[in-house]
Amino acid sequence: MSAREIRPGIFWVGVNDRTTDLFEGVWPLPHGVSYNAYLVVGEKIALIDGAKAPFAEELLRNISEIIPPEKLDYLVVNHMEPDHSGSLPQLRRAAPGATVLATQHALPMLAHFYGITGGVRAVSDGEALDLGGKVLRFFHIPFVHWPETMATYEETQKVLFPCDAFGGFHALDGVLFDDEVDVAEYEDEILRYFSNIVGMHSKPVLRAIEKLAGIEIEVIAPSHGLVWRKDPGHIVELYSRWARMEARPEVTVVFGSMYGFTARMAEAVAQGSAEEGVPVRVLDAGRIHVSYLIREAWKRKGLVLGAPTYDTGIFPPVEYFLRLLERKRLRDRVVGLFGSYGWKGGSVPKMRERVEALGWDLVGEVSFHGAPTPEDLARARELGAEVARRLRGSAPSPKGL
Ligand SMILES: Cc1cc2nc3c(=O)[nH]c(=O)nc-3n(C[C@H](O)[C@H](O)[C@H](O)COP(=O)(O)O)c2cc1C
Ligand SMILES: [Fe+2]
Ligand SMILES: [Fe+2]
Repeated sequence: MSAREIRPGIFWVGVNDRTTDLFEGVWPLPHGVSYNAYLVVGEKIALIDGAKAPFAEELLRNISEIIPPEKLDYLVVNHMEPDHSGSLPQLRRAAPGATVLATQHALPMLAHFYGITGGVRAVSDGEALDLGGKVLRFFHIPFVHWPETMATYEETQKVLFPCDAFGGFHALDGVLFDDEVDVAEYEDEILRYFSNIVGMHSKPVLRAIEKLAGIEIEVIAPSHGLVWRKDPGHIVELYSRWARMEARPEVTVVFGSMYGFTARMAEAVAQGSAEEGVPVRVLDAGRIHVSYLIREAWKRKGLVLGAPTYDTGIFPPVEYFLRLLERKRLRDRVVGLFGSYGWKGGSVPKMRERVEALGWDLVGEVSFHGAPTPEDLARARELGAEVARRLRGSAPSPKGL
């Protein structure tokens, strides 16, 4: 995509990445991702954010459509993760006179990531920079997504550049703004990004939202995905709900199974929930990438986990999923557990320990020997029904989750 003016004197000059298979080396990108960067053109010119290193040339090409890159006065580094900062060495070569602006916390990273020590200035929280006709103001928002992160706000046009906050997976398919797409089609990829990338920092996200609440914002221009000009409140609302761990009163059944015994029980659990009139989603942890499992668990308040015993413990794909939920600090789930064993059950008690440590509401569990008997299946159905009944008693589904 070529450069595009988003407000008078403010241009999107980012890039689409449709070739990286795994974001951060872990998270699949079937729909790609964009690295949004923005030019703010006053008497002085600032570039806000950048792109991953292999896309630096394309970024420079887009900048060149608006100004010769050597005219850049400032490189604003909101965040040091290399999906944005990777282009810095090439940008510095193209604009040797430009000053890098970042928080104090970013300075050692600039030195250790790229050997950049000179031509750098730390900006303080709330500091303003008059570009002549455009005014930038910097707000530190630590841990959204790293400790050094800040958001930049352009005061005359009321545009917020919050970097990773309010971003999402999904490249920009020829368009840029929320009013040019069916936003609902993007929301699943935005939530997969939120839950996997920034979810563990939900508290800092809420703190950042609170901190920026006093600012008059007309456009939210994040560094991944759509630019929000029609309804910036919508993305703030989605992020707030997800960060507060609000979820639909529905059930996600995540199971793993080697020989089908635990899988049979997963079907019975799902039927039990469905019979109570509660929507259910069943996901095989061995076959579906964990990033989708995390997203689905973030969406729904009910979570039933099924795992056979494996090497005395939890079947590895389910254990990995649970481990990541711990790392992402997902809270406030209504949970059921089930699993088969060959000689001495270990998976269900071990899942129980983890669930209790997480402070989740454990409704019940079914551990069974080998193939499920009709009685085991009936217990699984009852487990699904019990989780569903617990959810029905909770608040109705907030819109947009
Ligand atoms: C590699 C491997 C390791 C296992 N380790 C244990 C174990 O430590 N304890 C146990 O009781 N069963 C163990 N089992 C047996 C399974 O838990 C048992 O066969 C179970 O019924 C499989 O359920 P599934 O059909 O849902 O995979 C192991 C099986 C495999 C293949
Ligand atoms: Fe990041
Ligand atoms: Fe990022």
